Amino acid sequence: MAEAIQVLLAHNLAETRRMLRGVLSQKSDVEVVGEVNDGAHALQKLSVITPNVLLIGVSPNMSDDIRAIEQITLQYPNVSVIVLSEHKDWYYVREYMRAGAKDYLYMPVTNDVLVSTVHDVYNTNRKLHERNTVAALNDEFVHKSRVFTFVSTKGGVGKTTVAINAAAAWAKLGKSVVVVDLDLQSGVDNIFLGLTPARTIADLVRECADIDPEALKRYLIQHESGLSLLCAPIRPEEMELVSPAHVRVVLQILKKMYDYVIVDTSPVVNDNFFTTYEVADECFLVHTLNLTVIKNNRVLLDLLEELGYQTDKVKHVVNRNAVRNGMKISDLHQIFQKDVFWSLDNDYSFVEQSINQGIPFVLKEPHHRLSKQVYSFVTKLDTLRGSQPSRRGLIRAMFSRKR
Ligand SMILES: Nc1ncnc2c1ncn2[C@@H]1O[C@H](COP(=O)(O)OP(=O)(O)OP(=O)(O)O)[C@@H](O)[C@H]1O
Ligand SMILES: [Mg+2]
Repeated sequence: MAEAIQVLLAHNLAETRRMLRGVLSQKSDVEVVGEVNDGAHALQKLSVITPNVLLIGVSPNMSDDIRAIEQITLQYPNVSVIVLSEHKDWYYVREYMRAGAKDYLYMPVTNDVLVSTVHDVYNTNRKLHERNTVAALNDEFVHKSRVFTFVSTKGGVGKTTVAINAAAAWAKLGKSVVVVDLDLQSGVDNIFLGLTPARTIADLVRECADIDPEALKRYLIQHESGLSLLCAPIRPEEMELVSPAHVRVVLQILKKMYDYVIVDTSPVVNDNFFTTYEVADECFLVHTLNLTVIKNNRVLLDLLEELGYQTDKVKHVVNRNAVRNGMKISDLHQIFQKDVFWSLDNDYSFVEQSINQGIPFVLKEPHHRLSKQVYSFVTKLDTLRGSQPSRRGLIRAMFSRKR
């Protein structure tokens, strides 16, 4: 079933709000998501929820209404404003429409006219929004930015460690980076960064009917290094809220906003995994030198091929590389018939300490052997992307202490 049209009611009379809610609630494809007294309160509410339609009754103070509508239509172009008024004079209609309202209804309004107007303005605005989004996504910038996902069908191999430290290294080198924690059931990227998840991807999809850059920005949290994070849900059952369509739109919009979009994943292969894989420009398959890990990752690669996915975007990454593992990187080469793109050494207490302190090791100790390996990983990718790494930036990042 299509998602319901979300409507916010703004009217100073509780009686009228009740009447409007009663009429709209009879329609299964319309949902009233909130009630406020007037335009100013509607504006406040919009910082938390993003309905499709705002029904706003005119107040005795017309200039307040006009100001609120102007601000709402400017800041939230995906919210269609419908004015409800008892004034039949053209002058009023023109003033409210000029402020940005999409329609103007005389009160009292019949149930049919109210419902059909909500449908009409929603459909018109949605078409416009889709056109604008496609146009924006096609702009030149998108082709330069990259979506990188870190995957493995075995847990605990270091996907999060590598993803977070690579993202922090890029941030330190002055790139704009966002991390998306798509380990929807047990994501911990915020812990690696010492951040509290004020808002999560579950809140985003629950509260925003149309996800756009403005809405998305409000759900990102900022790290002192400059990177942004979209947190995984706090409660495991909330993972059900996030669909492949959500994953696709979130990643596509973020790709438009950042140089690098880093996607951390869970070991589970499901529809969200395949959507992430489709959207990603590069997929880093993370191994440790352990036969069970390598067997599971080989099966994943075979599955992708059987399903008709291009697998040339897969790059092999070895984490916890150590001489005494009993397996060597050359063994991996034999199994996958492809070079290992990059490897990170093993240093359990160093990595574990950085996780427990909530400070990525590339920021905490940029001169450490593992940190240098991460910096060389990101600069190698910069070079492939065609963006020249700044040598001065690299040296500064490597030899400055934690910020
Ligand atoms: N290079 C490394 N050297 C030593 N220990 C490491 C290294 N990388 C990761 N670890 C350790 O491995 C553990 C698991 O790492 P991490 O959480 O990054 O794995 P993951 O693949 O994201 O796991 P999950 O699938 O559960 O999300 C961490 O506790 C960390 O200390
Ligand atoms: Mg992880």
